[in-house]
Amino acid sequence: MPMRVAVAVSGRGSNLDALLRTLAPGRTAEVVLVLGNRAEAGGLDVARARGIPTVVLHDPTDAAAWLDALGRARADLLVLAGYLKLVPPAVVARWRGRIVNVHPALLPAFGGPGMYGRRVHEAVLRSGATESGASVHLVDEVYDRGQVLAQERVPVLPGDTPETLAARVLAVEHRLLPAVVLAAAEAGRPVPVPASDPCPAR
Ligand code: GRF
Repeated sequence: MPMRVAVAVSGRGSNLDALLRTLAPGRTAEVVLVLGNRAEAGGLDVARARGIPTVVLHDPTDAAAWLDALGRARADLLVLAGYLKLVPPAVVARWRGRIVNVHPALLPAFGGPGMYGRRVHEAVLRSGATESGASVHLVDEVYDRGQVLAQERVPVLPGDTPETLAARVLAVEHRLLPAVVLAAAEAGRPVPVPASDPCPAR
């Protein structure tokens, strides 16, 4: 049986789209539900276009709403793909070790409250760092603190803007997140994915 994956989104959903393109029918994991904290999130349209059930979390702090939606979908794994709110503590407690998030920086650097989207890349450029990258990590009660399962680095190039750096990092995110999901489907739970193995041919 494929691993049943629920994905939470807040924005356009390009990571969700990349995941769906990787998880073609017959693969070891399947997206069975997409949750959004904003009804207008583009990621919900990405899901609907593929006939995947969606749920809008009108109150994203309501743990019962999460647990009800995840339970009805019989989900095994929860993936945060551009989801910008904290997952309620009661959901983290019930789902500990089975929630992963993708972050557009090399955690633990450039993570934490308020560090999302353009702000991350602005902070990297301001710091003078010569490299950045993407991280996929386990989710706990604190933003971006959980164990890092996979990371891939990219160079920061002369003349980079937050937009050009974000685009280079996003291309890595689109490979790294599916790799972690496929490895989780193989192992039955999220596991570390070695850097040299960004997207194994399973
Ligand atoms: C990604 O860069 C992700 O790392 C961050 O938010 C962005 C969302 O992108 N958390 P998308 O909605 O998946 O296109």
